[in-house]
Amino acid sequence: MINATDILEKLNKEHSLSLAEYECLIENINPDIMEKAAEYARVYQKQYYGNKVFTRGLVEFTNFCRNNCYYCGIRRDNGQCERYRLSKEDILECANAGYELGFRTVVLQGGEDFAYSDESICEIVSAIKKAHPDVAVTLSIGERSRESYEAYFKAGASRYLLRHETANPVHYGRLHPKEMSFEHRMNCLRELREIGYQVGAGFMVQSPGQTAHDLAMDLKFIEEFKPDMCGIGPFISHKQTPFAKEESGTLEMTLFLLSLIRIIYPQVLLPATTALGTIDPCGREKGLQAGANVVMPNLSPTSVRKMYTLYDNKICTGEEAAECRGCLQRRVASVGYEIVEDIGDRVGFK
Ligand code: 5AD
Ligand code: FES
Repeated sequence: MINATDILEKLNKEHSLSLAEYECLIENINPDIMEKAAEYARVYQKQYYGNKVFTRGLVEFTNFCRNNCYYCGIRRDNGQCERYRLSKEDILECANAGYELGFRTVVLQGGEDFAYSDESICEIVSAIKKAHPDVAVTLSIGERSRESYEAYFKAGASRYLLRHETANPVHYGRLHPKEMSFEHRMNCLRELREIGYQVGAGFMVQSPGQTAHDLAMDLKFIEEFKPDMCGIGPFISHKQTPFAKEESGTLEMTLFLLSLIRIIYPQVLLPATTALGTIDPCGREKGLQAGANVVMPNLSPTSVRKMYTLYDNKICTGEEAAECRGCLQRRVASVGYEIVEDIGDRVGFK
């Protein structure tokens, strides 16, 4: 009989497994296999990125959203969510402050808010590029048309984050209302890649109803699609959503999956996410030790941070978090890694 350790070794040699083998790994998670996976993961992390950690400055510029995902705190039907939009000037100010702090990637993230026209998104992107030609502008504004994606790319955006959330269409249907389409989302990812963006996909770990088989499908998707970046974090419940009473994902499963993703695709950009830092006080540090190589501190004005609450107890939303950069610098150093001032492309991206 083949055991999970043998399967892990096979993955480390071949960077590919069958769905059943991925599922077996996930079902047999234990401290020993987690440590073994983390050891393999750190070999690749070191080989491609040394002890360097890339940063992305995150500007959460609007929490208006036309979507109604069951898990998300800024969903359309959350009437208790206080809404805000940052102006072009506000956003540029965040980007400038970030530049001074050493960030060479700015991520403009928001709900699907069509109050920002394509023209205004393009204006914001090109203004940032004009002020800082050595900064990569990443967009994370959801599902838009191919024409829109092309326009943003022309304006200077070079990366796009759009988590697929789950690679199983059946599970996708458990997390999203009928009006949202799995096929459309996956199609957006393919279009973004065709246009020439560095693309970030990703999924929530242990979202309500998710099985080991569903997670195996996510790993298979990562193996086949090979997104330049893969953002994963535990599902965390939010009081004002239909999933208020659902259990959150675990630190252990998230760390194990981070290691597996690093082994599947050794050059991938892998963030230690805010959600991981929320379920454990040292979650992001542990994420780096499991194979992650990116951190994404918040650059949004502290006055709006509490309003961008996708899940309960999100860290870095209080006044003490005015300067996440310094905080993260110390945290990253505490586990032997080093934040670098670098645009932070995926190794091998041409
Ligand atoms: N718990 C964890 N992650 C969440 N996201 C949204 N809501 C939650 C939640 N309740 C993630 C989604 C989304 C990203 C911006 O945040 O994966 O793509
Ligand atoms: Fe934001 Fe520590 S990283 S407060």
